[in-house]
Amino acid sequence: MSLQKYKKIMKFFTGIVIHGEKRGKEFGFPTANIQLDQSDTTIEPGVYATELILDNEKHQGMLYVGTRPTLNLSQKSIEIHIFNFNRNIYGIQIQFFVFKKIRGDQRFNSIEELIAQIEKDQAAIKAFFATNS
Ligand SMILES: Cc1cc2nc3c(=O)[nH]c(=O)nc-3n(C[C@H](O)[C@H](O)[C@H](O)COP(=O)(O)O)c2cc1C
Repeated sequence: MSLQKYKKIMKFFTGIVIHGEKRGKEFGFPTANIQLDQSDTTIEPGVYATELILDNEKHQGMLYVGTRPTLNLSQKSIEIHIFNFNRNIYGIQIQFFVFKKIRGDQRFNSIEELIAQIEKDQAAIKAFFATNS
C-alpha cells in the first residue's frame, strides 16, 4: 500500500513538546512528550509509525500513546521517539501524521523487556517506512 493511501486514511495532529519524566534518555529512546492542541482529540493507546514536520523538515519516528504501565504510571502520555535526532525541542510546535499501528500499550515485567520490545517496534516501523515511502 502506498504512503499516499495511508495519508488519506490516517490522522493528522498538532501539539506542543512538553517536558516528560526524562527517563527515555536513560534507556536509549528519548522521546518528545506532546500536548495535543485539540484537547478533545484522543488517539487510541498503542505504538504507531509516525511522520512529523519540524521547522519545515520531515522526520520519521515511533509514536507511543499510553499510561506507561511498566513504570507504574497511570496518566496518559503521548510521546514520539524521532529517528536520528537529538535536538532539544521543548516548547516547539509540531505537526504529525499517525500511520500504521504496530501494537497496543503493554505492561512489561522489567525495563529490559520494554527496551527489547521497543527495539522490535523500531525494526517494524523502519521496515514499514522502507516499503511505504
Ligand atoms: C516506541 C515506544 C513504545 C513504548 N511502549 C511502551 C509500553 O508498551 N509500555 C510502557 O509502559 N511504556 C512504553 N513506552 C514508554 C516508555 O516507558 C517511556 O518512553 C519512558 O518512560 C520515557 O518517558 P519520559 O520521556 O517521559 O521519561 C514506549 C515508548 C516508546 C518510544
